[in-house]
Amino acid sequence: MDPFELLKTDHRKVEQLFSQLESASGKRKLEVFKQIKTELELHTQIEEKIFYPALEEPEETHDLALEAYEEHAVVKDLLKQLGRARTANDQWEAQAKVLQENVEHHVEEEENELIEKAQAALGEEELEELGDRMEAEKARKQRGSSSKKSGATKKSASKTKSASTAAKRARPSKKGTSKSSGSKKSRSKKSAAKKR
Ligand SMILES: [Fe+2]
Repeated sequence: MDPFELLKTDHRKVEQLFSQLESASGKRKLEVFKQIKTELELHTQIEEKIFYPALEEPEETHDLALEAYEEHAVVKDLLKQLGRARTANDQWEAQAKVLQENVEHHVEEEENELIEKAQAALGEEELEELGDRMEAEKARKQRGSSSKKSGATKKSASKTKSASTAAKRARPSKKGTSKSSGSKKSRSKKSAAKKR
């Protein structure tokens, strides 16, 4: 799958939600915000887990990728602060506006600069593979968040799961040394940052 199609679809969805936020009032405003928060969190997680790490290595995209992480950090911080509010007062509105402006800037940079450079830096095959992984990760996360909503079902399911995990642990296994791709990724992130 084309990773840029996936990103652009997410971007358009968030833009639409922001315009809904502008016209909403009262409780509805917080409801729309909640949707924005969910969308942005999912989107940033996928980019940070799959897309940006692949862009850190090539020289052409290295700086933009690091900048994107920083922009995400600002957005996530604003989402957290806005998410704590019980009413959308004037200060909340101001902060929501800053969030929107930050997201718009980030989207613009991603679509006008990063995508073009990523296309030049990575081969078509690698991009396709990235897109497939991003799509799969998004589906996995969406399934995860929808099963969270049905708490009771999950509880009993996890009980069964932990029982079988315990049984597995009791048996000696040679598979104990499986490597974690997560820590490997964060290591490569650090080494890429050092290269600067
Ligand atoms: Fe992003």
